[in-house]
Amino acid sequence: MPAPKLIEHPLVDCHLTVLRDKNTSSSEFRSAVNRLSTLLAYSATHDLQTTEKPIETPIQKMLGRQLLHRIGLVPILRAGIGMVEVMLDMIPTSEVWHLGLYRDEQTAEPVRYYSKLPEKAPVDVAFVLDPMLATGGSAVMACNALKKWGVPLIKMLSIISAPEGIQRLQEECPDVEIHTCQIDLMLNEDKFIVPGLGDAGDRIFNTTGQ
Ligand code: PRP
Repeated sequence: MPAPKLIEHPLVDCHLTVLRDKNTSSSEFRSAVNRLSTLLAYSATHDLQTTEKPIETPIQKMLGRQLLHRIGLVPILRAGIGMVEVMLDMIPTSEVWHLGLYRDEQTAEPVRYYSKLPEKAPVDVAFVLDPMLATGGSAVMACNALKKWGVPLIKMLSIISAPEGIQRLQEECPDVEIHTCQIDLMLNEDKFIVPGLGDAGDRIFNTTGQ
């Protein structure tokens, strides 16, 4: 089982500080999510395979490179939507497959409310997008759905993770790569990440007051 890939970078520290600050506006929060997603994307795509592509520059013919495999972005609704734009910008040919999961407030277990994965023709590589990996229940449910679809390589991209969530994902889906900007201290009794950043979905979509 591969160790989680932790991005250690001074820019990560600075943008994470913006995310964590309770006084950060929703607009600033979305910008910080974009910036951290860019750094995560750079880390998680480093081993994508490419193939030759003949092109012609204004000067001469040459062989360039293009991505070899079909790539799928799988944002977990809602908060994962905040990471899609950056990933699509980086991998413009990727497909986006949405999974709607919410965490039951009593049990903290995920409940699926939207899934449109087709039965056949899975992508070759899937990037599961969610800013938070808390208990790991949502990530496990998403990765199991992708495995059932037949995706050979799955990478989980989370901005902050709890040790409990990483352990659960590693135990239940040992072949899934985990890329994260930060591993926080723990979960509290309400299964929120400590020190964390609150509810990413609410902060991205400005619904904290509901
Ligand atoms: C949050 C978060 C993850 C999940 C993590 O979503 O965005 O999807 O909880 O928790 P877990 O690791 O314990 O499963 P939430 O249920 O708050 O839904 P939302 O994105 O719609 O706000």
